[in-house]
Amino acid sequence: MSVTIKTQEEIDKMRIAGRLAGEVLRMIEPHVQAGISTNELDRICHDYIVNEQQAIPAPLNYHGFPKSICTSVNHQVCHGIPSDKPLKDGDIINIDITVIKDEYHGDTSKMYAVGTPSVLAQRTSRISHECLAIGIECVRPGIRLGDIGYAIQQHAEKNGLSIVREYCGHGIGRVFHEEPQVLHYGDPDTGLRLEEGMTFTIEPMVNAGKRHVRLLPDGWTVITKDRKPSAQWEHTLLVTADGVDVLTCLAGDTI
Ligand code: MF3
Ligand code: CO
Ligand code: CO
Repeated sequence: MSVTIKTQEEIDKMRIAGRLAGEVLRMIEPHVQAGISTNELDRICHDYIVNEQQAIPAPLNYHGFPKSICTSVNHQVCHGIPSDKPLKDGDIINIDITVIKDEYHGDTSKMYAVGTPSVLAQRTSRISHECLAIGIECVRPGIRLGDIGYAIQQHAEKNGLSIVREYCGHGIGRVFHEEPQVLHYGDPDTGLRLEEGMTFTIEPMVNAGKRHVRLLPDGWTVITKDRKPSAQWEHTLLVTADGVDVLTCLAGDTI
């Protein structure tokens, strides 16, 4: 499949799926406290998505992923599998939510602080959020994917942080991960040119140390090779006639 341009009906469904995903991140926030396990967070999100939203948690059984959400703590980069290990004061955690509603996907993630993380961990979280915001600001018809990657990479590297290259943002719609691949590094004026009606994610993974990562033997969890902290934020976006709509952003959220 190549890059799809969404119809108005599809956009309406993407908007609903996006809002639901954003609402899960908001719902779980007060639960992210020292002492709770990521399995408990998974169960709360699963039950909310299935029972309250009448939606489907997309990660569950996706290529064999065993849980309904991804939870990536400290030096875990992405795709962390929820477990019985409790969160502790000083942890940073990314919670990544993807819901399917009426066949369409909404995908979003954010960082939470447990108590008071190190200055380095807090700074990495903040700058990864800025990287996402800077990427989103680029989006409008006519710009190219390389413009987004370049802007994100520049911001991370000028702050002494690094961008993970092995994982990227993606087209999204009826399919969870579709074309195009949205790299968080690159060169201006290269790559696919954006058109109105495209929907894709931006989800930069920013490392406090070097960019290199390793896959754990569980086949999912990605960690930093140097064990320094990593942070990620994600939104699902729609290219509009004159810019961008952030489908997973709720009223009152700051991008
Ligand atoms: N939500 C992730 C993304 O942003 C993908 C998770 S796939 C899973 O693309 F299988 F690990 F859940
Ligand atoms: Co994604
Ligand atoms: Co995601």
